[in-house]
Amino acid sequence: MRYGVVSRGFHWLTVLLVFTMIPVGLIMTQDLPRSIQNPLFILHKGLGVVVLVVVALRLGWRAFNPPPPLPAAIPAPQRLAAAATHAGLYALLMVMAVSGYVRVTAGGFPIELLVAFGVPPLLAENEPLAETAKAVHAAAAFALIGLVSVHVAAASYHGIVRRDGVFSRMWPPFSA
Ligand code: HEM
Ligand code: HEM
Repeated sequence: MRYGVVSRGFHWLTVLLVFTMIPVGLIMTQDLPRSIQNPLFILHKGLGVVVLVVVALRLGWRAFNPPPPLPAAIPAPQRLAAAATHAGLYALLMVMAVSGYVRVTAGGFPIELLVAFGVPPLLAENEPLAETAKAVHAAAAFALIGLVSVHVAAASYHGIVRRDGVFSRMWPPFSA
């Protein structure tokens, strides 16, 4: 039993977005010429808003289309570990997107993608709030990198070592 095509599409779209967001975030915060840094910031902020929308839609879809049952042979502690990891990944994605949004808008900076669509900032300028959001964003980024590593290791273990059908629950991304 595998995830439906929409759930798989959401999963691999999220992977593409997050595997772009993390390196761009890490690179753009280095000491770089403005001509390189500015477009990276614009890309990071815009794609970050896309992550927020995609994860919200994905959780909405999931509420009405729950995951298929795992193979019966998977022991209870592993089921619990998988559920906890997945909940942590969803939570960290939301924390990253919201803290990024707060850091930028409370800092008084624009999110060019939202400006282009005429969406006004939801927060007034507030430097202490922006600084808190910045610290949360940086800490959660490292937690996310750690949890994604654990998740990819587990997925590879199922796909390469165990070959127990868990990997093909989420693969391939598109075919029915
Ligand atoms: C899943 C979504 C996101 C991921 C994985 C992500 C990842 C990262 C990473 C790894 C960094 C570097 C960590 C640091 O040194 O601070 C960073 C920094 C940053 N991100 Fe994000 N980000 C996300 C969403 C957003 C959003 C939605 C915005 C704003 C609209 C945003 C704005 C920023 C800004 C402004 C910085 C620089 C922080 C600073 O030093 O002032 N991010 N992000
Ligand atoms: C940015 C990186 C990633 C994130 C944020 C992420 C997130 C998630 C989440 C939240 C789920 C749970 C789906 C649900 O039940 O709603 C999941 C499932 C899954 N992911 Fe990922 N994932 C990432 C990368 C990967 C990669 C690179 C692989 C493959 C190497 C992978 C393989 C899987 C598999 C096989 C499942 C299904 C597990 C099961 O059947 O219980 N993921 N992923």
